[in-house]
Amino acid sequence: MPDTSRHISGSQAEQSAIKAPSPIFEPNLSDQFGRKITYLRLSVTDRCDLRCTYCMAEKMTFLPKADVLSLEEIFTLAQAFIQRGVRRIRLTGGEPLVRKNILWLLKKIGNEVKAGHLDEVTLTTNGTQLPHMAADIYAAGVRRVNVSLDTLDARKFEGITRRSKLETVLDGIQAAKAAGLSVKINTVAMRGKNEAELPSLFQWAINNELDMTLIETMPLGETDQRREADYLPLSAVLPKLEDIHTLTPTPEGTGGPARYFTVEGSKQKLGIITPLSNNFCDGCNRVRVTCTGRIYMCLGQDDHVDLRQALRSSEPAAGLRKCLDKAMGHKPRGHNFSMSNGKMVGELQRHMSQTGG
Ligand code: 5AD
Ligand code: SF4
Repeated sequence: MPDTSRHISGSQAEQSAIKAPSPIFEPNLSDQFGRKITYLRLSVTDRCDLRCTYCMAEKMTFLPKADVLSLEEIFTLAQAFIQRGVRRIRLTGGEPLVRKNILWLLKKIGNEVKAGHLDEVTLTTNGTQLPHMAADIYAAGVRRVNVSLDTLDARKFEGITRRSKLETVLDGIQAAKAAGLSVKINTVAMRGKNEAELPSLFQWAINNELDMTLIETMPLGETDQRREADYLPLSAVLPKLEDIHTLTPTPEGTGGPARYFTVEGSKQKLGIITPLSNNFCDGCNRVRVTCTGRIYMCLGQDDHVDLRQALRSSEPAAGLRKCLDKAMGHKPRGHNFSMSNGKMVGELQRHMSQTGG
């Protein structure tokens, strides 16, 4: 039996009942292992104004614009997922804020939050556009953003991102806070690159009332770099942070790969994402859609279903329903990334910027 219950909690349920219930009733998305899919990561572009060494090559071939979905099509997809029980949508890229007219889409999805059809819309950004966009992003209905930042050292920032925009990103973080957005910092831990700085970066995050999540590098796409050289297991980083702070694991999770710690004496949280050293796929609640309309059921697998054809057909609703059911049947238990004898296993051709982080 398909699960037809909607994932609406307390006040939200009341709100949506009073305001505007979802117009069409569809069975909620649930995969072959019974995991409910309530979280969609939606990539709106594969382009970016930075070239992080773990993410991209300097010379990238980006997708032809004709292959990329229009913002209207992306919104139609978002609605199809909302009708199937998705409660949170995160826009990703590439860099989502370099997509022209992205505020239009944010407002449309933000209206779904205001109507009670969605719990939240969030963004993962590199922060470079936040100085001039933060206030509009808040007005559109976004309340939380993740900002990628691996170092506070301008020279290192340029080494890692191949661009000199540290000041802009720091201004962007302040602009986001000033606009009322809550900001979490995403930091990729890299051996010998930002390794020594991680304790002070974490302290900076705490001082600035920013949550932080540390991420192990994953073997996604060709980047001109040997991945293994950068790989730093977080098991080697945590003790350095624990020398300074008392960290306590919390049971809290987001159905995602992150595990969280509270930090004694502060309101901030530390998250860790350890795909290589420790896989936490069991409770996965998410799927990803690329800007060309492919749904990837797992960041670490190549299997996908094309939604674009259905979206552009004469009966998009029926076509999308079928495609999403197929995708649910194919969602794998987890990814295959691991380290074996100093070699990364499970490598994929696809860059993170294609699937969305
Ligand atoms: N491995 C780990 N993290 C990556 N990111 C981008 N590419 C990789 C990779 N290959 C990070 C970005 C961003 C988040 C969405 O993913 O820094 O913070
Ligand atoms: Fe751009 Fe993010 Fe990739 Fe860096 S990690 S190049 S900011 S998409």
